[in-house]
Amino acid sequence: MIVVKIGGSVICKDPSRAVADLARYAGEAIAIHGGGCAVNELLRSLGIQPKYLTHPGGVTSRYTDAETLKAFVMAMSWINKSLVASLAARGVVAVGLTGADGWVVKAKRKERVLVVDERGRQRVVDGGYSGRIVDVDVKALSPPPLKVLAPIALSDKGELLNVDGDQIAFEVASRLRAKLVILSDVDGVMIGGRVVERLGPEEAEALAKSEEVKGGMKRKLLAAAEAAKNGVETAIYNGLVDSPIEKALSGLGTHIIPK
Ligand SMILES: Nc1ncnc2c1ncn2[C@@H]1O[C@H](COP(=O)(O)OP(=O)(O)OP(=O)(O)O)[C@@H](O)[C@H]1O
Ligand SMILES: [Mg+2]
Repeated sequence: MIVVKIGGSVICKDPSRAVADLARYAGEAIAIHGGGCAVNELLRSLGIQPKYLTHPGGVTSRYTDAETLKAFVMAMSWINKSLVASLAARGVVAVGLTGADGWVVKAKRKERVLVVDERGRQRVVDGGYSGRIVDVDVKALSPPPLKVLAPIALSDKGELLNVDGDQIAFEVASRLRAKLVILSDVDGVMIGGRVVERLGPEEAEALAKSEEVKGGMKRKLLAAAEAAKNGVETAIYNGLVDSPIEKALSGLGTHIIPK
């Protein structure tokens, strides 16, 4: 089994090659997508400025208040159905769902989160509608048919929650001990203008702290290090090229490998 995460960076630029390749692996894959850029586009068209929080260590995350959550669910659902439609055009029957459907992704609302404010001081703020994964129903997600999952979870209080797509992908792959392919808009983790080819879990953690690794990539490396400790190999590769899944599986990109 392989878990494929199609990043928002691929979705908003050109998902066609990633989708074409996903269609080939439909019988053995679980797909998860992002779409932060589409959420921001919708928010701006509604006159709402996207909000982000910076956490200690430099990891950033969206601040999901009630109106942001609404736009988040709308934009992600559109992406989800568009992916299902593109797969259908390639003859693949896929089921698109959020983690709320069938309660496949259970999460708990992050009531408080630690942030670093503009002056560099640490503060505790309300976590908004963002969630920490509690459980994933990997049986319900397993093919056939191919499942395409939007990064939305559901709490036991009935709250829809924004959960980072990478986190869901890592969680699913860890539980299934599946190989994980993370498709983004870069050839891998770049250091000094070159792709880092192989990393062990400790090396990945150390690199996540480097000045050269920022934003979403920092998050991916930290989660990949955790996954590697659970025996899962992660490949981070470019979803904008031809046959990106096949190339990632054949060794291109950055591979974070269990010891
Ligand atoms: N050292 C680095 N090497 C490669 N990419 C890096 C590095 N540091 C920061 N990045 C950035 O990380 C980004 C990928 O993470 P990001 O979270 O933005 O995208 P995504 O996960 O594909 O999208 P989404 O979060 O919407 O699903 C790249 O577009 C790149 O700009
Ligand atoms: Mg990301």
